[in-house]
Amino acid sequence: MTHTPPAADQLWLGPAAWAALGARRIHVLAPDTDVTRAVRQDVVAATRAHGGAVVEQLEDADLVLATLASVEPWDGSLPADDADTVATAVHFAQQDAGERAPVPDGFLVVRHGGVTVVLAGDGAGLLHGLHHVQRQGEAAFAVADADVELHEPAQTIRMLDHWDNIAADTPMGPVERGYAGASIFYADGRVREDLGRVEQYAQALASIGINAVGLNNVNVHRREAELLTTHLPDVARIAAIFRARGIRVFLSVDFAAPITLSGMETSDPLDEGVRAWWADAVARVYETIPDFGGFVVKADSEGRPGPFAYGRDHADGANMLARALAPYGGTVFWRAFVYNHTQDWRDRSTDRARAAYDHFAPLDGKFDENVVLQVKYGPLDFQVREPVSPVLAAMGDTRVAVELQVTQEYSGQQKHVCYLGTQWAEILDFRLWGDERTVADVVGGRGRVGGSPVGGITAVSNVGDDELWTGHPLAQANLYAFGRLAWDATLDPVEVLDEWIGLTYGADEQVRATLHAVMDDSWLTYEKYTAPLGVCFMVQPNHHYGPSVDGYEYSPWGTYHFADRDGIGVDRTRATGTGYTGQYPPPWRDLYEAVDTCPDELLLFFHHVPYGHELQSGVSVVQHIYDTHFAGVERVEEMVAAVATLEGRVPGATFARLQERLAEQLRSAREWRDHVNTYFYRKSGVPDAHGRTIH
Ligand code: GCU
Repeated sequence: MTHTPPAADQLWLGPAAWAALGARRIHVLAPDTDVTRAVRQDVVAATRAHGGAVVEQLEDADLVLATLASVEPWDGSLPADDADTVATAVHFAQQDAGERAPVPDGFLVVRHGGVTVVLAGDGAGLLHGLHHVQRQGEAAFAVADADVELHEPAQTIRMLDHWDNIAADTPMGPVERGYAGASIFYADGRVREDLGRVEQYAQALASIGINAVGLNNVNVHRREAELLTTHLPDVARIAAIFRARGIRVFLSVDFAAPITLSGMETSDPLDEGVRAWWADAVARVYETIPDFGGFVVKADSEGRPGPFAYGRDHADGANMLARALAPYGGTVFWRAFVYNHTQDWRDRSTDRARAAYDHFAPLDGKFDENVVLQVKYGPLDFQVREPVSPVLAAMGDTRVAVELQVTQEYSGQQKHVCYLGTQWAEILDFRLWGDERTVADVVGGRGRVGGSPVGGITAVSNVGDDELWTGHPLAQANLYAFGRLAWDATLDPVEVLDEWIGLTYGADEQVRATLHAVMDDSWLTYEKYTAPLGVCFMVQPNHHYGPSVDGYEYSPWGTYHFADRDGIGVDRTRATGTGYTGQYPPPWRDLYEAVDTCPDELLLFFHHVPYGHELQSGVSVVQHIYDTHFAGVERVEEMVAAVATLEGRVPGATFARLQERLAEQLRSAREWRDHVNTYFYRKSGVPDAHGRTIH
């Protein structure tokens, strides 16, 4: 069989991804809406490309895509002597739907007599059902009969934020923490005329179940504030593209917009004039975009304006915006990333890790129903290794969404291979109370028996106008994995990666094996050669790429490691430290508090220990640092060799990009190894037990 190298410029929806579905005779049965039109459009394109057909008669189909309301009502009887008809397959699905209809976005799939039937509750469910079958490829059609399966998202909100700026000359560039070129939405100070790439993107996001996007940077600068006003008709063009894929759009707003945009004197959330201003602004948005999702807000955080200026709290601020949005069904995503970024490093009593909990835990139950508190997964800032944020366990009466970072700000900036699916799966599976309840359960509204407020999962996207979308071609896997895990956090992240490899690079088993060898453990490899044992940061200030062990040690940002000649780590215990461990419920508060039970990988996050301290693994802290840094670089050397075997098996542009990125990863990993090892050798005076070169 000849292998046509796929085109990674189509994300995971290149021709190979549609081959099996496109070879079928497909009957679509659904009312005409924006979303179902997109389903039909995809089916037409796929069947044209791969030899199948769209059939008008149900009986001619071997794949039926239908919404529940569109299929003929069924009296409950199955034809006895003609049991292999398409109608029978549909009836099987109806029978199950009768027992338990899929929730919005969900669908049933059944296979009977060689016919596959997807039955969805709504258009979005139909779209997800289509992609379920598309993703499975030939496997979806391999057996003649398969029991009915119900597929429903575990999360109601599966959202991607974009830190894109309209103006390319903002201090952080066109996309804040973007590593894949300029914005796909904006250019030259306005929404792009040609949104063709956004159409491709929306299709890809829908295929992995994303249903909400934030369109602009959470740091809302002057010109971006105007997305809410001057640029609204253009935002509506973007919204229309996403609408066709079942995705609602949100805007990040400037809390001080009444001042910045209209010259008012205040943005006090309790001021009547301010409330009226927002009510007006929101009314105009909904006139233009009737299904607008709502706002994302970064307030009183890293210098952004917020309610504190008026002596109000975050609930006052969030509820004010929520009340403006409520009449239209809009939602406020209020970010919990609030801390003092002008701290004095001499002040050991201020602990940035404590900040989000200290600010928000007392406000539990005070937020309106259409407010979702958006909480970063760790207490600091998207680090490669942090404990899970205790805020996630502290807000039983608040809707909470956990925020992840697909863009690789702290994980190699899309120059390094770092498959984050494994990290997210671990975070989402974290048992906040030590019992069966996971982070995914809590944000999904299953934190308490009988239910709890429903939040969701959000993340910062990693795409740009780069021809391969994500800078590093393998970073596309992170985008893919985010969507899949947001839909179902119990999926095995390596299996998710396997899906992505197959869809993107086709059936070449050597490519599959090589990419697994390069990517499966790449998060842990990245951790090995960067900051050790959960101590965090040690990156170059501002741009956050490459090592600088003391880069933030004497800065106002609150991210310190306190290394001296005797030891390293942050004492966050209740007994002698900042008391941060006390923000966790049992068993974690005690597990983290005791140096002997604190997991090795988080030891330096919670404890200041001597270099000779013996880890649970049996080696000393300083020897662990040396060992992991040597091992990390060795793994990258293996990755470089593995990638070299892909020549001719992946498209030329992809291969060239891979080689260039891997070379940089190796250079950078060696730099990390040498900085970190030398630093700790000089501080501790302890030589490497294995006599390797430390400069
Ligand atoms: C990080 C990141 C910033 C971003 C901030 C946020 O600190 O470096 O660029 O604005 O997170 O999440 O708001």
